[in-house]
Amino acid sequence: MRATDISDQITTTLVTEEQIQEKLREIAAQVAADYEGKDLLLVGVLKGAVMVMADFARALPYVVPMDWMAVSSYGSGTKSSGVVQIRKDLDTDLHDRHVLIVEDIIDSGLTLSWLLENFESRGAASVEVFALLRKPDAAKVHVDCRYIGFDIPNEFVIGYGLDYDERYRNVRDVAVLAPHVYS
Ligand code: IMP
Ligand code: MG
Repeated sequence: MRATDISDQITTTLVTEEQIQEKLREIAAQVAADYEGKDLLLVGVLKGAVMVMADFARALPYVVPMDWMAVSSYGSGTKSSGVVQIRKDLDTDLHDRHVLIVEDIIDSGLTLSWLLENFESRGAASVEVFALLRKPDAAKVHVDCRYIGFDIPNEFVIGYGLDYDERYRNVRDVAVLAPHVYS
């Protein structure tokens, strides 16, 4: 089966591969200007941010280090709980670094607000967020997010790194998962 042949498992395609790539080029240009002359560190949140990190980092016009963090926000299925556990910590000392967290999606905002606080407590010079997707209607806490790709409706989506039960991450577009798949 082609990875993209999932038309019976999705309802709507929200963002296409082409729209994502165009947006990444725009945001990369902005980030390049904002961080000119600064020592930037990209931090990706595993595993969802793998695709956006790979494409975004290569859209930047200069050499930039990447580090990764794996957290689990407890809760299964399609909802997150806000109880965050570190599964893999950074390899980099954040002291005096300018950190840009690269995230796939801000849903409730609970994971990111926890991460922001955690990184600031490590003495980073600055901590900003780039999230490819955001669900404004799902926000439980406000997250200061400097760069946003697309605001999307409050529905469970898959593709471009986002999974349901570890599936669909390699789907190229972002699409709404059909409710019959998870109910
Ligand atoms: P938050 O803490 O609720 O903001 O979201 C935490 C994580 O849940 C995100 O980084 C995603 O990995 C995952 N997540 C949230 N919404 C979705 C979705 O619609 N599809 C797939 N994963 C999601
Ligand atoms: Mg994530």
